[in-house]
Amino acid sequence: MKITVLTLFPEYFIPLIQTSILARAHQAGLFTFETVDFRNFTKDKHGHVDDTPYGGGAGMVLKCQPILDALKTVRTKDSTVILLTPQGHPFQQRMARELSLKSHLIFICGHYEGFDERIRDYVDLQISLGDYVLTGGEPACAVICDAVLRLVDGVIKKDSSDEDSFSHGLLEYPQYTRPEIYDGKRVPEVLLSGHHANIEKWRHQMSIKNTVKHRPDLLKELEFNEEDQNYVNSLLKKDEI
Ligand code: ADE
Repeated sequence: MKITVLTLFPEYFIPLIQTSILARAHQAGLFTFETVDFRNFTKDKHGHVDDTPYGGGAGMVLKCQPILDALKTVRTKDSTVILLTPQGHPFQQRMARELSLKSHLIFICGHYEGFDERIRDYVDLQISLGDYVLTGGEPACAVICDAVLRLVDGVIKKDSSDEDSFSHGLLEYPQYTRPEIYDGKRVPEVLLSGHHANIEKWRHQMSIKNTVKHRPDLLKELEFNEEDQNYVNSLLKKDEI
């Protein structure tokens, strides 16, 4: 996996690949990561990458030329070009999984008030991190790179990502570690029992319960077997949820 980020702020990405799990994976050669400062591509004699919007209005708009000339130098037939924008598809775990299988991702990070609309015609995919406006695409890009790279083969143990929240459409089950009692709160008995089948069943039910409680919107995407559906129905009937 190779990632190329077109940005005016390459320094933003240094901690991303120099910290923790991604630093180790990067050192081990599991992915390559480069930034391209598209200011270096501007043909403007003052070095500007943006200009005032046609029609007037506040702020500056990123010009096509520096971004698209920079893109030309890094794009190949194997690249997937992604524009970060609040108008894009909301980012989800499913997308992270799909992107983790690509060989080359190129991210374009806008900044300031926005970018020339014509840039959208040159990308394969537009992604939004969520329904809020960031100062630029960089924070969204860093989050997406993190979510994608942890799914690249070898970055984390496969068992860990199989049990992630959302990987089966459900939120994750609760986890506990020592001590058995903290501030009067006990670890659920079943987790101390050593009975693997019961533990698995409990975890599955807790995943369902967490989802019903915190993200009922996810339920409509799921098809439950009869036993799980009965459990969901019983939860929905109870007031405790
Ligand atoms: N740029 C500014 N806000 C954004 C968002 N929510 N998602 C992706 N890119 C952005």
